[in-house]
Order: sequence, then structure tokens, then C-alpha cells
Amino acid sequence: MRGVILAGGLGTRLDPMTRVTNKHLLPVYDRPMIYYPIQRMVEAGIDRILIVTGGNHAGDFLKLLGNGREFGLRHIDYTYQEGEGGIADALSLAEYFADGEPVCVLLGDNLFEHSLAPEVEAFRGQERGARILLKEVADPERFGVAELSEGRVVGIEEKPQNPATSYAVTGCYFYDADVFEIIRGLEPSERGELEITDVNNHYIRRGAMSYGLLSGWWTDAGTVASLYRAGRLVAGQGRAGTGPGASR
Ligand code: DAU
Repeated sequence: MRGVILAGGLGTRLDPMTRVTNKHLLPVYDRPMIYYPIQRMVEAGIDRILIVTGGNHAGDFLKLLGNGREFGLRHIDYTYQEGEGGIADALSLAEYFADGEPVCVLLGDNLFEHSLAPEVEAFRGQERGARILLKEVADPERFGVAELSEGRVVGIEEKPQNPATSYAVTGCYFYDADVFEIIRGLEPSERGELEITDVNNHYIRRGAMSYGLLSGWWTDAGTVASLYRAGRLVAGQGRAGTGPGASR
């Protein structure tokens, strides 16, 4: 299984910090944000990793990460996303790297308290299709929200005003090699992006989507409130309580 970490986008919700650097290079407690997804992948046994970045500060990833020796890696792959065409657009750049293998995709601004190794194992056993990870949150309207019925995900709505459930779709996704063909068939959403939620709904319609429920805390770090919360969660290892950007 190959690993893809998506760290493109312009990070406008973190202006002015992101005027002079990429969002994923900002600190979360004691290290740059991008360290967290890399560490989660490496400890789950994934050592072929592609980082998709973009914007004006892409070169700084190389300066910071090099070939990943600090993480026990021998090599890291990099690629560059022109513009901000969405998460699925960024993922499409990984087709050559994936080379027909299944992929584990992490959003570069997502932090998970626990190891993802059990989920990697679960997807290895699945062979085909896709798998997502859900987490109950207090503010589902900020995320993709999963509708569940009889133990299955029956649909996902992106940032709904009236969420059907409180299960957010986290930024950890597993796909078989069909994902690139699916992305080629997507149309941009109202916000002008190729949406990962549309990819996931495609797998759901095929009956090829499984899911896991996360234990431990999970947060994004793409807004001022959630970046602050992420730092407190890391510092307190889960004892940061509720507050701004609160996702349980
Ligand atoms: O955090 C989980 C949520 O992430 C999911 O629940 C949503 O379904 C999913 O759409 C996404 O929502 P956001 O609107 O918060 O995503 P955002 O635009 O902040 O992008 C998340 C990461 O994806 C970002 O840190 C870098 C990467 N990205 C994003 C875009 C738009 C790219 O690499 N390229 C892009 O063009």
C-alpha cells in the first residue's frame, strides 16, 4: 500500500500566517503540522510516501523533510498541485506514484490521537473498494457527514446545514486503484473543487465502501480555532477538553 499526504491548497482560512508559508509548515505544539500525518503513516508500516503540495512555498517542504531520514524513511516523493482544485484534484496527481497499488490518503492538516495501523490492516483485508474513518463530533456541519443505515454508510453530505448524523468523515481514506478513474469522471462542485466526498459517494453507490469508527481524539487544524485546539490536544494528549473548534 502506498501513502499519499495532501498538503496543497492556499490555507486562506489561516491568513495572515499563510501569506509567508504553507499551512502545513505551521507549528502544532512542538513540530510542524506535516510531521503528524507522516508519523502516523510511518508507524502504520507505510514507507512509500508521496507529499502533494502547492502554492508559493513548496520548496520549503524539501528543506524541512529532505528524504525523511528523521522519520526512518530512505526516500520521500513530492509532487506539485497547480492552483487549488480540491482534494480529489490533488489526489489525482498520485496516479503515477500509486502504480496500480491501493493507497492510504491523509489530509495534511488532520491529527489523530491513535495509531492508524489497525485501519491499514482492515483495508489490506478488504482488497477492493474504499474505506473511510468516522468520528462523532460536536460540529458536524464543518465536515463531510456520513449517513448510516443498518451498519453501512449510505451517503455523505459535504458541510450540510442540517447534518443527518454527528459522524464526521475524517481526513484518512483508503482506495483501490479505481479511484483515479473515478476522479477523472468528476465535475467541480459549487466551490469549484473536485470533492473527495463525490469520490466517496461513488464507492458507496457501488456498494464498495467500508468504514471504521475512530477511538481517541481527532481534529483538523485548518482554521484558527482548530489549529489552536490541535496544539492543546497534542500538548495535553487528549486532556484539552472542549473549547474553540471543539470536535469531540
Ligand atoms: O478534515 C476533514 C474534512 O476535510 C472532511 O470532513 C471533508 O469532507 C473534506 O472535504 C475536507 O474538508 P475541508 O474543507 O476542511 O478541506 P480543506 O479545503 O481544508 O483541505 C484539507 C486538506 O486537503 C488541506 O490541508 C490540504 C489538502 N488540499 C486541499 C485542497 C482544497 C490539497 O492538497 N489541495 C486542495 O486543492
